[in-house]
Amino acid sequence: MSSASESRGTSHATMRIVNIVGARPNFVKIAPLIRAMNRRPTFAQTLVHTGQHYDETMSERFFRDLEIAPPDFNLQVGSGSHALQTAQVMQHLDPVLDAARPDLVLVVGDVNSTLAAAITAVKRHIMVAHVEAGLRSFDRSMPEEINRILTDAVADLLFVTEESGRTNLLREGIDPAKIHFVGNVMIDALEGSRRQWESSLIFDKLGIEPATSYAVLTLHRPSNVDDSRALAAILNAVEALSRDIPIVFPVHPRVRERLDHQAGGRVTESRVHVRSHGITYTDPLGYLDFLALVSRARLVLTDSGGIQEEATILGVPCLTLRETTERPVTVTHGTNRVIGNNPERILDEALRTLAHPPHRNGTPPLWDGHAAERIVDVLDMHLRARAAGLQ
Ligand code: UD1
Repeated sequence: MSSASESRGTSHATMRIVNIVGARPNFVKIAPLIRAMNRRPTFAQTLVHTGQHYDETMSERFFRDLEIAPPDFNLQVGSGSHALQTAQVMQHLDPVLDAARPDLVLVVGDVNSTLAAAITAVKRHIMVAHVEAGLRSFDRSMPEEINRILTDAVADLLFVTEESGRTNLLREGIDPAKIHFVGNVMIDALEGSRRQWESSLIFDKLGIEPATSYAVLTLHRPSNVDDSRALAAILNAVEALSRDIPIVFPVHPRVRERLDHQAGGRVTESRVHVRSHGITYTDPLGYLDFLALVSRARLVLTDSGGIQEEATILGVPCLTLRETTERPVTVTHGTNRVIGNNPERILDEALRTLAHPPHRNGTPPLWDGHAAERIVDVLDMHLRARAAGLQ
């Protein structure tokens, strides 16, 4: 068996890139980028997993589903406060960058690992590329918003998924020459694995008949799940909705313990649980099973960012249980509506959406499955210009 770096094509390579991943959505974003870089013999890639997510269901499963070779380094930082997690990534990544001396560090998304890696690299005078730059919720109580703003402030190359990203960055005074509108690597991953997720066996595993109509729920934002009253209120609305439509709820580990407390021990055992009033709790699902489930759902209720985008492309009605979205194109072009977390409103909007499902208004520009190639083209150009002493 070849080593992880051989399988990423390091022979004849001249441009050294360190790719950083830490949490579940990062794995989805990096997969098409690794593949696109693999097609260029001039790129030598190293993959660093910070270990922010570490459960089998939150990490290894995604590597398998997305066919990503094991990381070259795992920093094993694990869970902790924001300060601790960020500091640990910086502390453990620094010697790796010192030894690897890459030409560029590539970070994706908006998790704590993204920010920590960007700061560590820039302090070493290493060029930083940020994929999914410029998204803004304008809500600084979200940890991700702080991560986005700070990462974008230090990045040298900013790859944006939608027009709002460019507008936000320009407003913050970012040099327009650094900004590249390339589309969305989440959609590259979705389209690239369509054949696999279309043949997922998740419906058998969950006991869902092909003709059943159902809704999918995901929750993990601190504003919805860390406050037990907010979580209880959302769950009340969801229970009421489950009288009209069965609901599948893959439970994020952040929520598991709290929910178990509220639901009387039905969630923490590692298997599927069906509640009499129509909510099926599951462990977090793998990437392919989750896309399969969403693709045939009649409705998605979520507080995730990435799921708003996936629902848009899959044409599945999506209600976002937050006050804001940093992805406005999912509302203007997609099936997404941002409705907050008031329980009456959730029930009302869900029933209305089931009765009158919204339709997609075209496809967001450049969400065509080729974003990673565009990104790699830009990286190639920059790194060559740099090598030639033009920058
Ligand atoms: C993180 C990201 C969030 C992203 C989400 C995707 C930050 C600030 N947040 O949130 O932007 O949308 O990932 O899932 O970076 N835990 C486990 N096993 C794991 C990972 C976490 O049990 O593999 C538990 C731990 O108790 C931990 C808690 O989940 O304290 C939260 O994990 P953490 O990585 O801090 O934040 P997420 O809520 O997952």
